[in-house]
Amino acid sequence: MTAVAAFEEGLGNAAAQYSDAFDAARDEPALRAANARYTGPNGLVTKLMKLMPELPKEQRRELGQRANQLKEEIERAFAQRLDGLLQAARLAELSGPSLDISLPGYGARRGYLHPLTRLKHELLDLFGALGFDIAEGPEVDLHENNFDRLGFPADHPATDMQDTFFMQQPPGVNPRATLLRTHTSTVQIREMLRRKPPLAVVSAGAVFRRDDDATHSPMFMQIEGFMVDEGVSFSHLKGVLTHFLQRLFGANVPVRFRPSYFPFVEPGGEVDVGCTLCRGYEVIHIPGQQPAALPGGSAEVCRACKGTGFMEILGCGMIHPVVFEHVGYDPERYTGFAFGMGIDRIAMLRYGIPELGLLYGNDPRFLTQL
Ligand code: DAH
Repeated sequence: MTAVAAFEEGLGNAAAQYSDAFDAARDEPALRAANARYTGPNGLVTKLMKLMPELPKEQRRELGQRANQLKEEIERAFAQRLDGLLQAARLAELSGPSLDISLPGYGARRGYLHPLTRLKHELLDLFGALGFDIAEGPEVDLHENNFDRLGFPADHPATDMQDTFFMQQPPGVNPRATLLRTHTSTVQIREMLRRKPPLAVVSAGAVFRRDDDATHSPMFMQIEGFMVDEGVSFSHLKGVLTHFLQRLFGANVPVRFRPSYFPFVEPGGEVDVGCTLCRGYEVIHIPGQQPAALPGGSAEVCRACKGTGFMEILGCGMIHPVVFEHVGYDPERYTGFAFGMGIDRIAMLRYGIPELGLLYGNDPRFLTQL
């Protein structure tokens, strides 16, 4: 077969086929593949064009024109079919099932105060309502304010007993000069140095000790209160604390005062409230014998009060005359009472939390329940 005949046959085949091939394509990729069989780099028409130099000169021009015309025809048909396919696809999408884009979003979670901070505010408010002023003290304080002026003798075992975090000092400075306060009783000294009686003050905040177990954390929170005036007596202390604890734990909860020792009070005491979990104080309990039973006849011993029916909640007492001397108050003229308690402990009792660490773990799954 001559080159011209082969060329003409190729043109004829392409012209006869492309239209059916395009019609048979059901989507865009199939159409593009069909188109490539004619006008792509290895397509039929492209190959014919490459044969042109072999055609006799006198027919080259005419055959070339026909090939070009066919190519343009195919390109037009391709564009038309593509348009048709795209429109059909769009129509099918529009008339098909609608896409629901109304899924609710994730929303932003609002922050809120930590339960211990809320409880702290609540406790301060209770004393505020009784006429106490609210004061603040620093978490790093002098050894004097934390121990000496409160009547701890130098090298009193309490300074070790409390297992204090001391701040690092430059060489030549007493290595025990400053510390992380081990209790909020420092605020008693600071406020009394600053003010003259009569005064009634509460203060709350973080305190630090080298303790770490299920019921102790190296940092915890205390609230401290004290009152100084002429004629302040132990009955004022008892009245204020009984009122406070019954506001906090319930009007009928029993409050029990026991003697105890703290260097900065005389007499000193500890206060217990009836166990809010087992209410074991309702049954007669003889110390050292049968523990108070849990309600519902359970044989288990109550974890919160260890079966005694009472929970220790705070330390208190009448401010020691030596403290007044250290702050320049006349101990012959003034008397006063003081008390201090752990806010974490109150939270544990109030919410029935067995592990102190839960309060400091910052796990919102737990904290949002309080
Ligand atoms: N500061 C004592 C402590 O941390 C608690 C305390 C006891 C505070 C007796 C007082 C008080 O004000 O009078 O263990």
